Amino acid sequence: MSSVSLREITELTDPRLPDFLDAIATGFPADEQMPPGYYLRLLARRAAGDPAAAAMHLATAHDDAARWVGLTMWEESEPLSCLWYLWVAPSERNRGIGAAIYQAVVARCQASRGLIIEVERPDFLAPNSPACAFAKRRIGFYQRQGAVLLPDLVYRQSCGRDDQPARLMYLMVHPFQPLTPADLEQAARDHMGEDVLS
Ligand SMILES: CC(C)(COP(=O)(O)OP(=O)(O)OC[C@H]1O[C@@H](n2cnc3c(N)ncnc32)[C@H](O)[C@@H]1OP(=O)(O)O)[C@@H](O)C(=O)NCCC(=O)NCCS
Repeated sequence: MSSVSLREITELTDPRLPDFLDAIATGFPADEQMPPGYYLRLLARRAAGDPAAAAMHLATAHDDAARWVGLTMWEESEPLSCLWYLWVAPSERNRGIGAAIYQAVVARCQASRGLIIEVERPDFLAPNSPACAFAKRRIGFYQRQGAVLLPDLVYRQSCGRDDQPARLMYLMVHPFQPLTPADLEQAARDHMGEDVLS
């Protein structure tokens, strides 16, 4: 596995913030993006000492030569932490960097019972389309890292945008301690609340 280090963005004046926002804007579908103002308000709340804002972590990932190769955003919470974004620069993909970033997040969330992840549903995408193939590969990627797909739960992802419809997604949970399938489902329901529709 590649080696990466995570560098958190904790202040509005961090010079990496514009690149972080640009990468989110170009790297994810519009309906999976928080509005840009979300990040600015989050960092302002963090500066004001809000503990909920401090639990949300924005970070760029760097290789051994300190080159910027990806980003991630995760939330440390109980009982589950949540991985909101994981992105690797297109030119750097398929070299183990995504796995290394993921495992670096896992290492930082060990106070939780596990890590919850939202993923696109291949069954809601056109069969044989590139989007469907990517969605299947993404699930395989997270399964190889230790996450379990919860196929019976329908999750409504809403990014707080009035201009985008909510998207129905799958949830996956990476348990950090032995949990039965029923425990995993219950933990996901408890964490995501009314956004779990079934
Ligand atoms: C998913 C992603 C983070 C993987 O990063 P990576 O550095 O290429 O990952 P690794 O080299 O550790 O592992 C390669 C695996 O990543 C997955 N992957 C690679 N490119 C992918 C893509 N464009 N879409 C979906 N999954 C991809 C595949 O499972 C691949 O294994 P496979 O070729 O055997 O199918 C990266 O492709 C990416 O940033 N995609 C766009 C953003 C995204 O989909 N993020 C995840 C949802 S938050």
